[in-house]
Amino acid sequence: MLHKIRTSELELGMFVHSMDASWLENPFWRPRFVLRETEQIERLVSNGITWVTIDDTKGKSPQKPLEQEAASVKATEPERSQKPATVSKRSAGTALRSYVPPTEEQRFTRLSPRERAAEVRKASGAIKRSRTAVMNLFEDARLGNAVKSKKLAPLVEQISNSVSVDPTIILNIARLKTKDEYTYLHSVAVSALMINLARKMRLPEAQIKDIGMAGMLHDVGKMAIPDNILSKPGKLDDNEWETVRNHPQRGHEILSASEGVCDIALEVCLRHHEKMDGTGYPGKLPADDLSIITRMSSICDVYDAITSQRPYNTPLSASQALAKMQSWSGHFDQLILRDFADSLGVVPIGTLVRLSHDELAIVIGESPSNYAAPVVRTFQALDKDHAITPQDIDTGSKNTRKILAIEEPEDWGFTDWPVFSAELLAAKVPD
Ligand SMILES: [Fe+2]
Ligand SMILES: [Fe+2]
Repeated sequence: MLHKIRTSELELGMFVHSMDASWLENPFWRPRFVLRETEQIERLVSNGITWVTIDDTKGKSPQKPLEQEAASVKATEPERSQKPATVSKRSAGTALRSYVPPTEEQRFTRLSPRERAAEVRKASGAIKRSRTAVMNLFEDARLGNAVKSKKLAPLVEQISNSVSVDPTIILNIARLKTKDEYTYLHSVAVSALMINLARKMRLPEAQIKDIGMAGMLHDVGKMAIPDNILSKPGKLDDNEWETVRNHPQRGHEILSASEGVCDIALEVCLRHHEKMDGTGYPGKLPADDLSIITRMSSICDVYDAITSQRPYNTPLSASQALAKMQSWSGHFDQLILRDFADSLGVVPIGTLVRLSHDELAIVIGESPSNYAAPVVRTFQALDKDHAITPQDIDTGSKNTRKILAIEEPEDWGFTDWPVFSAELLAAKVPD
C-alpha cells in the first residue's frame, strides 16, 4: 500500500516510491529506492522535498498515527463512481495536470517570423555539422581507433541552445532522415530529445552537456554491425540478431578505451536497451538497477526510431508513437514517459481529457494544422452525468472547445480504461 508522508517522518528501511519534486541532482539516483542511510533522508530534506510516497509492501510501514492521518486525508476526497457510465463531477482545481494547448502561435510567440527563420537556419547548420562529426567519429570507431568525443562538445552546445529557444525546430528537422544517414541523424535526434527531456525534468543545467553527449554517442557500437544487417528490411536470423544485440557492449568498449568520455555517456551507451521488466539487453537488469538517465535514454531512442522512416516500418506520428510506447507494459518508466510527452507538447492517442464545456473526451489523433493540438472524441457530459453522442473535435481549430486538463481514468471511475478506451476509439461517430 502507498502512503504519502512528510520527509521529516521518514525512517530507515522505508521504500520510497515517488516524491513531490523534480529528480535530484545526481543523475544516477534511482527513482525508487530503500532508505538505507540517514544521509539519504538528509539529502531529500536539503533538496527541499517535503512529501514522499512510500510503499509498505517493499519496506517498513509508517507509524500508526500517520496511517490514521492518511486515512483522514482519503476520507476528505470526493466519492467516485466505479462505473464508466456515471462519473462524479469534480472541481477544475483538482485536475491532475492542467493543460494549456500549445497552439502554433503560442509556441512561437517569442520569435518573430524573421527570428524563427534565422533559428531554423541555425538549427539546420548545427544538425548538418553534427551529422558529419558523428559520421567521422563512427568511422574512427569502425577502424578500431579511439574516438575523439571532445570534437562533438561544441555541437552538443549548439543543439542545446537550439532546443532551449524552441525544441520543435530542431526536432522537426531531425525527424526527416534518409536511409543512409539514419544512424548519424538518429544520434543527433536522440541527443536533442534527451536535452529537451532533461530540461522538462528540471535536471541540473550542468549535466545537460553530458546528457546531450550521451545521446550523440549511444549507438557508436553499431559500427561493428555490417551494413547488410543494419538495414535489412526482413526479419533477422538468430546470428544476425546476436550481432545487433552486441552493439551496446561493443560501444561501451570503444568509449571506455577513448579519452574524456563522461560517465553518463558510458552508462547510456551500455544500458539504453535495458527494460523496466528486466528483459532488455545486454544485462537484463531489473528496474531498480536502471538509473534515471538510462530510463530517459531508452524512451528517446525508441521514440526516434519509430517516428523515423526505416527500411522495415513506416513512421508513426508523435501521438501514435507515444500511445504505442505507453501500451508496451514493462518496457519504459511510465512517469518519465509522461514527462517526455509533456516535453514534446504532445498528448498520446487514448489519453483521457476534460474539455471546457464540462465534458470528458478521449484523444484520437493530431490536428492536421498543429500536431501538438489533439483531435478529441467527446463521450461524457459531466453536468448531466451521462454518456452523450460522441463527437470529434479538432482542438487546433479556432472557436471550439479547448482541453482544460489531462485526467487519470481511475479518478473518474474508469477502472478498465484500456478496454473502454479501445471501444471509444473504435466507435462510429455521426458526421
Ligand atoms: Fe542502440
Ligand atoms: Fe539508438
